[in-house]
Amino acid sequence: MKGIILSGGHGTRLHPLTKVTSKQLLPIYDRPMIMYPLQTLLRAGIKDILVIIAPDHAGDYLKLLGSGKEFGAKITYEIQDKPEGLAQAFIIGADFIDRDSVCMVLGDNIFEDDFSGNIRNFKSGGHIFAKEVKDPERFGVVKFNGEMQVEKIVEKPKEFLSNYAVTGLYVYDNRVVSAAKEIKPSWRNELEITDINNWYLEKGELKVDIVKGEWIDAGTFESLFQAGELARRKSGENMPAVG
Ligand code: TTP
Repeated sequence: MKGIILSGGHGTRLHPLTKVTSKQLLPIYDRPMIMYPLQTLLRAGIKDILVIIAPDHAGDYLKLLGSGKEFGAKITYEIQDKPEGLAQAFIIGADFIDRDSVCMVLGDNIFEDDFSGNIRNFKSGGHIFAKEVKDPERFGVVKFNGEMQVEKIVEKPKEFLSNYAVTGLYVYDNRVVSAAKEIKPSWRNELEITDINNWYLEKGELKVDIVKGEWIDAGTFESLFQAGELARRKSGENMPAVG
């Protein structure tokens, strides 16, 4: 299983903070944000990791993470010239993924849970993780039926669908590379990860688990602040110390 941390984007909602640095390098309590998703992959036993970054501040990522040796990992880098969607990661990362499965985490997502069991047991298809939230309209949203089977997944629905948001951790088999090449850009001109999830759902090969612990998408001022609080609270425990 290979790992990808998707850490590009503009971070416009965090202006002016992100005018001078990349969102995923902003401090969350005692370390830069990206070190939390890095820890999520390392904790899951994933050691071969591609970090996808925007052209700006690329050198700062190299300075922070280097070869990955310090973390017992091998880290490589690719540039995403423009933020053309989460699913573009699988095209940019096609050579890196090679013939393996891949676990992608977003560079601004902070998870309390340990996903090593899920990764170890993954065989094929797609496996994503949902969490009940108050503001589902910010995310891809999962509609379950009465038996908690997935009915559909809709990207940022305008009308209320459910409170279950798709979190920024995705596990796919090798077909994700061809799926990403197959899907078309959406109305906002992005290759949507929701289309990848629906690609697997249509084949009856999408598994959705519920995230038990805390999850924060640190893309807004409010959630950035909450992420700092969570990290501070957990700093005495084993989460999410890196190094
Ligand atoms: P978003 O938070 O949706 O986008 P953003 O980071 O550019 O922020 P804003 O909406 O405030 O402008 O992206 C979620 C994560 O995915 C974040 O870590 C950035 C990353 N991302 C990319 O690396 N490339 C992309 O093409 C997109 C859409 C997002």
